[in-house]
Amino acid sequence: MEIYGLRTHYVTTMEYRVECIKCGRRFPAHEIIYTCDKCNGLLDIKYDYSGIDNERIVKAKGRGVWKYKALLPFKEGTSLSPITINEGDTPLYRCDRLAQSIGMGIGDLWVKHEGLNPSGSFKDRGMTVGVTKAMELHVNGVACASTGNTSASLAIFAAKAGIPCYVLLPKGKVALGKVAQAMMHGAKVLSLLGNFDDALRVVRELCEEENLYLLNSVNPYRLEGQKTIAFEIAEQLNWDIPDRVILPVGNAGNISAIYKGFLELEKLGITSSVPMMTGIQAEGAQPVVRAFKDARTEIIPEPEPETIASAIRIGNPVNATKALLAIRNSGGLAESVSDTEITESQLLLARAEGIGVEPASAASIAGLRKLYDAGEIDRGEKIVCITTGHLLKDPERAIAICEAPQEVMADLESVRHVLHATINNKNKE
Ligand code: F0G
Repeated sequence: MEIYGLRTHYVTTMEYRVECIKCGRRFPAHEIIYTCDKCNGLLDIKYDYSGIDNERIVKAKGRGVWKYKALLPFKEGTSLSPITINEGDTPLYRCDRLAQSIGMGIGDLWVKHEGLNPSGSFKDRGMTVGVTKAMELHVNGVACASTGNTSASLAIFAAKAGIPCYVLLPKGKVALGKVAQAMMHGAKVLSLLGNFDDALRVVRELCEEENLYLLNSVNPYRLEGQKTIAFEIAEQLNWDIPDRVILPVGNAGNISAIYKGFLELEKLGITSSVPMMTGIQAEGAQPVVRAFKDARTEIIPEPEPETIASAIRIGNPVNATKALLAIRNSGGLAESVSDTEITESQLLLARAEGIGVEPASAASIAGLRKLYDAGEIDRGEKIVCITTGHLLKDPERAIAICEAPQEVMADLESVRHVLHATINNKNKE
């Protein structure tokens, strides 16, 4: 059977190791560990790049995440069945109308719409790798804390794998579509009386006690799946790279993962530089932006994060250290945007380009507009904005910010009357 280029249930990649980014301590690949037991530093997966032939990336067959299996953390010769729902292979749209409305040049702006992954968000890329790893490690089940999308994606992959799934969501703070997905796909959904940061603290302890596999982005294997966003962008641009990549930042895993992906392409000599990684947070939840602007390497957690972009309502992002390194080492930027700016950009993207995204995703467009207007972005830069989640994730917000449907009698005259009134109003504008 062929699953996205995997002819057999067999994956061959190269040797890898797990390493602490702070003290360099190494851990055996079969050990279930999320942060360094000595210094509490974040972990990263390291490969021996000398052992990989570029052709295995550039000429790889298939589509989506597993196409890049040569750079995924499964040992050479290991036999396993990837848990996959055909994630990745999302479109990169050239957005000239949006570019023009911002004042940018034609052909300078692209949007990578990760909302078109099977569950409606980029999380699927991390989960296909993370849940496949969970199966390899023979755990009792999987768990996560979530602002919504992580739980939706994990529930789907756990269903596909046939293993128990437990998700902790901050009560009343998760968009409707995401909760519906987690429930529908059979996860045990816990509505926690606290915020996302509380949920993550609790679930980390729970996983230690119960032999459950933690699939938040503190798990380094998840980020390995997400780095394929960088590979796809480069490939879609003919193995060239944009000058800048802009994306929303919440728990700060995705920006770290994508930076790593670009670094790997550069290390392998496939591309010759790395884009300026630019992270956008909401004004009410911006610990990474504050640390960046104050030239600090550590964040100061925000105890009560607040924004309508519920996906990124996070005050204590676990991957902040990695994200700050990604932003600084690539010469990028970090900026915050208001809820009003997010809403305006969500509408603009939907109406100028036909790209429907949830509020957190629109933060990338709002950030671009703000930085461009402020002159922080050079004219002529080639930019890719990443939109991380689909519009239908948060239908309540879409309905709240759009004009309500107009009630009309069921006859032609009444409908024509409304139509002409609408056209007249449009002409007056
Ligand atoms: N955009 C969307 C739509 C998200 O769901 C998230 C994170 C982000 C951006 C931020 O990505 O955390 O890697 O910096 N959502 C997580 C969740 C926290 O639980 O679904 P990040």
